[in-house]
Amino acid sequence: MPGRRIPAKALSGGVLIQDHTDHVNTPHAQRAAPVRVAPSAASPVDGSGFAALARETDAYIGAFLREARLPDSLREAVEYSALAPGKRLRPVLALLACESVGSSRERALPAAAALELIHAFSLVHDDLPAMDDDDLRRGRPTAHVRFGEAMAILSGDAMLSLAFQALGEQGDAALAGTLTLELSRGTSAMIAGQVYDTLGGVGEGLSDHERLVRIHAHKTGALIRAACRMGAICGMWPDIDENRLHALSAYGDAIGLMFQIVDDILDVEQTSEHLGKRTNKDETAGKATYPGLLGLDASRAEVERLRRAAAEALAPLSGGGVALTSLADGLAVRTK
Ligand code: IPE
Ligand code: IPE
Ligand code: MG
Ligand code: MG
Ligand code: MG
Repeated sequence: MPGRRIPAKALSGGVLIQDHTDHVNTPHAQRAAPVRVAPSAASPVDGSGFAALARETDAYIGAFLREARLPDSLREAVEYSALAPGKRLRPVLALLACESVGSSRERALPAAAALELIHAFSLVHDDLPAMDDDDLRRGRPTAHVRFGEAMAILSGDAMLSLAFQALGEQGDAALAGTLTLELSRGTSAMIAGQVYDTLGGVGEGLSDHERLVRIHAHKTGALIRAACRMGAICGMWPDIDENRLHALSAYGDAIGLMFQIVDDILDVEQTSEHLGKRTNKDETAGKATYPGLLGLDASRAEVERLRRAAAEALAPLSGGGVALTSLADGLAVRTK
């Protein structure tokens, strides 16, 4: 896949835009101390050998945020959300996808960090009063409860922007351009999905099930697909094998939809204490969900169908897909 070359001059940055922060000349040590990173919540990513990948991503994000030029109050809010104890699924997918095509996972770390920043931004905005109006996220008060609505909105904006900065600051400009295209497509689709979920307008002439697939594939599937593709692109760059990229896209599509179906099921079946976010909310809020449309048994059957589809999609990777298959197995039976 050819990446559009970005002139090196365009990447130098910092020339026209003046720093406006009060700590620009403050040594790092004097800045606000970074938040302490709590261990990621127990999940399929824990206990299956994937926790190390989540920790590597957190270390990368932590270092990246310490270097980012942000006012201290904004940095604190961004760190609060981006480093909160979550599963780090999208980074783990990117790192595993990178390994699945025979590369070392470090190559995908900037992409992994960028994906988690976008995901964290989506969660902060998803929880806002105008959206799902939630007060608990990852076992903590949501960003707007902790910092106020204005800072929550702005920290989401910042994470959206910082994600692309993280891609741009890695060494290879052509790779950065290609990853930017993948991530911006995934992010736009996620935002479209949030519009469908919150405001409707998903499209005419669709059955209820088709409508639901479209909502879920956009709001959750698109970023998961992007994670798989970005990891694979990092691993194969610059010689992209379209067959393997296609296999990882199909895997991402299957687990992306599966992931949101399980999220819908957990909203019905789990407690807030276990999940670290409010449960039993979707029905009250009138959300379109799998359990609401098909019932729990049919929803579980759909999860199983997608788990199998994900494993089958990885066939072109031969041995390379073992870890991703086992991750999909864990995601199908996750309880948080
Ligand atoms: C929650 O995502 C929002 C959805 C897209 C379903 P996760 O379940 O991955 O949340 P964290 O990152 O573990 O907190
Ligand atoms: C959120 O879906 C999808 C996002 C893009 C954040 P949900 O609204 O179901 O996610 P939770 O249940 O609040 O984590
Ligand atoms: Mg929502
Ligand atoms: Mg929500
Ligand atoms: Mg949910």
